[in-house]
Amino acid sequence: MNLTETLTEFASDVIEGLSSHPKHLSSKYFYDHRGSMIFKDIMQMPEYYLTDCEFEIFNNHKAEIASKIYPDKSYFELIELGAGDGFKTIVLLNFLVQQNVKFQYIPIDISAKAIENLQLNLTKSLPNLFVKYKTGDYFKLIAGLNGTAPKLVLFLGSNIGNLTENESLSFLRQLRNVLNRGDKLLIGFDLKKDPEIILKAYNDPHGHTAAFNLNLLHRINTELDANFNTDNFYHEETYDPQTGTATSFLISKKEQTVRINRTNSIFHFTANEKISMEISQKYDEAMINYFAENSGFAVERNFSDSRSWFIDSLWKVV
Ligand code: AVI
Repeated sequence: MNLTETLTEFASDVIEGLSSHPKHLSSKYFYDHRGSMIFKDIMQMPEYYLTDCEFEIFNNHKAEIASKIYPDKSYFELIELGAGDGFKTIVLLNFLVQQNVKFQYIPIDISAKAIENLQLNLTKSLPNLFVKYKTGDYFKLIAGLNGTAPKLVLFLGSNIGNLTENESLSFLRQLRNVLNRGDKLLIGFDLKKDPEIILKAYNDPHGHTAAFNLNLLHRINTELDANFNTDNFYHEETYDPQTGTATSFLISKKEQTVRINRTNSIFHFTANEKISMEISQKYDEAMINYFAENSGFAVERNFSDSRSWFIDSLWKVV
């Protein structure tokens, strides 16, 4: 068997990224157990305004959101992609339960641990909620829900912003293809705003975002038997107000060599060499319309917070 045949997707992505010029790693690998805990710290810090904005939108607009979901009040499936701990969604779930709306909640996450925690939360806070917990591939799981009930998919938190434009379009088109005409999507977009506010959210004084990025080097050490010394890298964030792209980098403090034993590879870093780690795209309404129109959806209604920093956009499959 040759080496590439035995590599996991994680290992081959790491090797591909560190062999590229400029070097890059994928933020989709940030969420091991430790990474998920650090992301929780990020969501709780005051500088990370995204969570507060979306929480405010859900609190202030839950009745309007609920009335727009299925005005005829027929049974539907509420599917959440990347459900995490469900902190914001619980506001909407609570409201729907109080209103006696007929629905089933189907949270999907790639992390089994996240789903386990959500289950603990929900059994305590909403014991009467009808829930089907799922772990795994979003599209396969949605396609496998072989009922005829209308669906509302939640994709919150501006998670879409961690994908490039092409990846976003491909993701949305795949999602559209496993839905039926008339199904809906409520999708979160963080908006372009004062660059200082954005930079503070991603270059925080507590060091959580730096730890979040450096944790991927730890993960490579643990899972691929590598010898990254995380003290030899620091985190930097940039934001381009024209494109709306915030980018996280790890920068090598000095010339160094890193060995990944599992793949039998060696990587050289020059002093100040950057590894591009994550993009967090910021949007405007024109971009939101563009994504909807080019993936088979129509924008039905945008819900925003009082500062107009974030939009949860309700789309309908056309
Ligand atoms: C999950 N995602 C939308 C977060 C974001 O804002 O891009 C991940 C994150 N990265 C650094 N801070 C938070």
